Amino acid sequence: MSPLDSWQRLYRQTAGSPLQPVRHPLLKHHGVSLQIKRDDLLHPQLSGNKWRKLKHVLRQALAEQARGLLSFGGAYSNHLHALAAAGRALGLPTVGIVRGEPTSATNPTLSDAASWGMALRFVSRQDYRRRQDADWLAALAANYPGHYLIPEGGSTELALPGVAELWQELPPADELILPVASGGTLAGLLSARPRDVRLTGYAVLKAHGWLADTVQQLHPAAAADPGWRLRLEHHGGGYAKSPAEDRRRIAELATELAVPLEPIYSGKAMLGLFRDLDAGLYPAGSHLLFLHTGGLQGTRGGL
Ligand SMILES: Cc1ncc(COP(=O)(O)O)c(C=O)c1O
Repeated sequence: MSPLDSWQRLYRQTAGSPLQPVRHPLLKHHGVSLQIKRDDLLHPQLSGNKWRKLKHVLRQALAEQARGLLSFGGAYSNHLHALAAAGRALGLPTVGIVRGEPTSATNPTLSDAASWGMALRFVSRQDYRRRQDADWLAALAANYPGHYLIPEGGSTELALPGVAELWQELPPADELILPVASGGTLAGLLSARPRDVRLTGYAVLKAHGWLADTVQQLHPAAAADPGWRLRLEHHGGGYAKSPAEDRRRIAELATELAVPLEPIYSGKAMLGLFRDLDAGLYPAGSHLLFLHTGGLQGTRGGL
């Protein structure tokens, strides 16, 4: 099968994910309804926002006859995990530039990636900070001729159309809620936002004005779009950090809603949503959608 045929097969295999209506006494109390778009179930390895963001990037890499794919991430990176799976499915070699020590190569995320053929190259935190620096990237690219470079998290302009396709699978609603890190998923959704659906993104890391700027860099029309907001107060102390009480509450919410939540993305955003419900941010009568962006693989390392 040619790489393009394999891409088309993947495209068909990821044609949709279920929508799960949930109940909770607090939702009832505040008079709002909530449905969860279970993109965590989109594909066993390419789940959540990963395939949505990667599909057109990969299509482009194939069109350019790339000899391989190269990207960046942390030791539990959902993005590198998905990229390794995609590379295997497409028959393309993959290289992961990993922030941290080679000892993390044995964690479940990177063991999977390596077993699917990803070459792992570990770099210090100091070097990793240079991942957008043109000189550093050029030096790196020279070691991997013909490889297609994908930024961390897969958030490029080419990620937007794949995310925008999600709207075709969503029912009418007042508000779509999602976790935000690099901003690519939010930018993609904004690029095709129906006028009557507002978007609320929960930042899962400490962010200030730069996060909105990043979204607007990816999708400039967002600057003049009044239909979205970022909630910046629910990061829980920073990326992949949370007070023990928040983790306990996330685990509780997962049971109460009968939806698997991990503490880094979906859990933080869901907890933010429930706290904001109590704060009166979602008016009675609202029909809310929550996008489950996946990432459950990352919790196998005991995060
Ligand atoms: C599982 C999961 N959810 C949400 C996000 C955040 O998406 P974005 O970086 O596009 O804001 C990420 C990171 O890309 C992720 O891995």
